[in-house]
Amino acid sequence: MVELLGFKINCPKCRLANLEAESSVEKVRCPKCGAIFPATNGVLDLLNEESPGMIAISEPMKWNWVVKIYNGILWRRSFWMSKWMFGIGFDQEYKLITDAAKLSPKDSVLDLACGPGTYTKPIAQIVKQGRIVGFDISLPMLGFAANQAQKEELKNILYIHGTVKDIPFANEEFDVINCCGALHLFRDILPELLIKINAMLKPGGRFTIGAGRKPDDKFNRKLVILSTKKTGLKYFTPEELKHNLYDAGFSDVKIHHSKRYWLIASANKF
Ligand SMILES: C[S@@+](CC[C@H](N)C(=O)[O-])C[C@H]1O[C@@H](n2cnc3c(N)ncnc32)[C@H](O)[C@@H]1O
Repeated sequence: MVELLGFKINCPKCRLANLEAESSVEKVRCPKCGAIFPATNGVLDLLNEESPGMIAISEPMKWNWVVKIYNGILWRRSFWMSKWMFGIGFDQEYKLITDAAKLSPKDSVLDLACGPGTYTKPIAQIVKQGRIVGFDISLPMLGFAANQAQKEELKNILYIHGTVKDIPFANEEFDVINCCGALHLFRDILPELLIKINAMLKPGGRFTIGAGRKPDDKFNRKLVILSTKKTGLKYFTPEELKHNLYDAGFSDVKIHHSKRYWLIASANKF
C-alpha cells in the first residue's frame, strides 16, 4: 500500500477532492469522482501514458541504461560533466543547493523533475521527521528511485509519476521546492510554472534551482542558440533567471554558481 504521507494531492480528473489511499491495495482513489490511480512498486501514477508532453531531448531519461548509469560517475557525477558542462563537481553543487534550501528536520519538500532521486534521497535523510515527494514524468527514473528508497527503508518519500504541466499540489504545501537539471526543459510553460512553484511554497519557503546557462564565449553561445531552436531548451543568463523569478513573485534571488553551461540559484517566498 502506498503512503501519501499527508500530502494533499488534488484529483487530476475532477479537481474537486484530494486523493485517498485505499487500505491494503496498491491504489489511490478520488472520494468525489471515484477515479482510481495505480500505485505500484512505490510510485503513484497520475498519468495514463508513459511520458506525455516530454520534449524530445528528454527522451533518454526513459531509457533503462541511462537510468542505471545516470547518478554515477559516467553521467551526473562524471569528471567530464563537472568540468565541461557544470564547471562544478556534484558534491559542491549538492552543498550549495542544500545550504540554500536551509533544510530543517520537519520540512515538507517537493523535488520537481527528481529523476532517479539524485536529490530526493539525500534530502529525505535530512528531513527525517518531515517528508519529501519526488515528482517526475519518467517512470523508469521513478522506478529506480523508489526501489532505492525501499532498499534503504526510507519511509518519508513519496514518488509520483506526473508532469509539470499539471502539478496536483495545493498552495502553501511545501517549505522547500527543489528543481535541479530541469527548468531549462520547460520553456513553453516557464512563467506559469514559476508562479505555481511560488504558490505551492509556504510563506518563508525556499526554491532551489540548477539550470542550463548561456555560456559567455561567442562560439558556445552560437551553439546554444542553435540547439535551443532545434530542441526547445531554454538556457538562462543569470540576469534572465533572476528576472523570471522576481516576475513570478519571488524575493531574495541569489545566484550561487554561474559557470560554463550551469547556473545554481535560490529564491525565497515572503
Ligand atoms: C536531467 S534530469 C534531472 C534529474 C535530477 N533532478 C538531477 O538533478 O539529477 C531531468 C528530469 O526531468 C524530467 N522531466 C522532463 N520533462 C518533464 C515534465 N514535463 N514533467 C516532469 N518531469 C519532467 C525527466 O524525466 C528527468 O528525470
